Amino acid sequence: MLRVAGRRCVVVGAGPVGTRRALALVRAGADVTVVAPVASADVTGAAARGELRWEQRPYATGDLDGAWLAHTATGVPAIDEAVAADAEDARVWLGRADDRTLSSLWVPAAARVDDVTVTVSAGGDPRRAMELRDKVAHALRDGTISAPRHRAARSTTPSPLSAAPPATPVPAPPGVGEVALVGGGPGDAGLLTLRAAELLARADVVVLDRLAPRAALEHARDDVEVIDVGKTAGTHPVPQEDINALLVARALDGARVVRLKGGDPYVFGRGGEELDACAAAGVPVEVVPGVTSAIAVLAAAGIPVTHRGLSRGFTVLTGHDDLGTVPDAPDHTLVLLMGLGRLRTTAAELVARGRDPHTPAAVLEDGYGPRARTTLGTLATIGEIANAAGVRAPAITVVGDVVTRAPGWAGPA
Ligand SMILES: C[S@@+](CC[C@H](N)C(=O)[O-])C[C@H]1O[C@@H](n2cnc3c(N)ncnc32)[C@H](O)[C@@H]1O
Repeated sequence: MLRVAGRRCVVVGAGPVGTRRALALVRAGADVTVVAPVASADVTGAAARGELRWEQRPYATGDLDGAWLAHTATGVPAIDEAVAADAEDARVWLGRADDRTLSSLWVPAAARVDDVTVTVSAGGDPRRAMELRDKVAHALRDGTISAPRHRAARSTTPSPLSAAPPATPVPAPPGVGEVALVGGGPGDAGLLTLRAAELLARADVVVLDRLAPRAALEHARDDVEVIDVGKTAGTHPVPQEDINALLVARALDGARVVRLKGGDPYVFGRGGEELDACAAAGVPVEVVPGVTSAIAVLAAAGIPVTHRGLSRGFTVLTGHDDLGTVPDAPDHTLVLLMGLGRLRTTAAELVARGRDPHTPAAVLEDGYGPRARTTLGTLATIGEIANAAGVRAPAITVVGDVVTRAPGWAGPA
């Protein structure tokens, strides 16, 4: 928990341990000098970028002058001892990698959760400390341990030693809450990000999309207010402008708002419009990417979106509109979101534009859900086969040779 930002710190040795220590100090904003005749690529890279100074030579007495803190991890006992003796004389706190009992400081296992730093030291057993740190951090993120505030939030200061900074720090003006545009993934509770769970755990209000994973609400407080603004196909119960206004109004009232969406907020999710509305109103906003259905639902159906020898790339489009210009080779995967009602027209358009009618195609319904089903065909047949099967939204249409990887593919139908 030392605030080393701007203070001189010296690391002697640049092997794996010295490198970790040096980079953690750099992340914490310290003025870092590494002394070592040979250094790891990470240290030389950081030196080249001007993030630390690398003295490419053996340690010499005097190297600790002016330092507040030092680490030695040379792997040579005589050198570590010399550094330790100098540190003691100069009253510099020293971490020794070779023998913690001879160290004047111990580096704990640390994790940052929101603005809370968890540090654990566990009887000289680093793995035990890390396991305990992970358990506490996890419990804080999923709300099993709550950490209510007793003082107003302060803007985030640089993290101590090895703690990682939060994804996007957003200090809020006094009295104003915040909005987080959170991608909830394609429906499976395990595909929510850690940051999403963390923000849900502290949310006052959660505004849900139709496809937002309801299971994610397990991370929220019992008294959280849940507002469902989900649109069903063809109907728009809450217009987008009203959703924007709702997010802004609740945040200006001081609430911490999570706008939870299916998949990723920026993949046909109107995240950009919501971000603009918040920014225009001076509301701090954070965007948390999610696992998009455009890739994950294919994976759940056993279809890799690219595959060496089968697909060189992919395009994600909506199936609602005219397709625009897309590569017509079968080794370019097309992923169509929405637009199931237009599937025949879309398939015919693709053929008219030059795609082979035998190109494999699949409709993937309700990925990760109870109705998950794969319907296979080709561009020439998929419209009819899907219609006969009675496919329903939400569904993704995939076109391209990668469809042959789907279990059950037995050649063009
Ligand atoms: C408005 S878009 C939003 C996409 C979302 N932002 C994403 O990144 O996954 C909604 C469409 O995504 C697709 N979709 C989302 N989740 C799905 C799922 N679990 N199974 C099948 N399709 C899904 C469907 O095509 C659905 O109509």
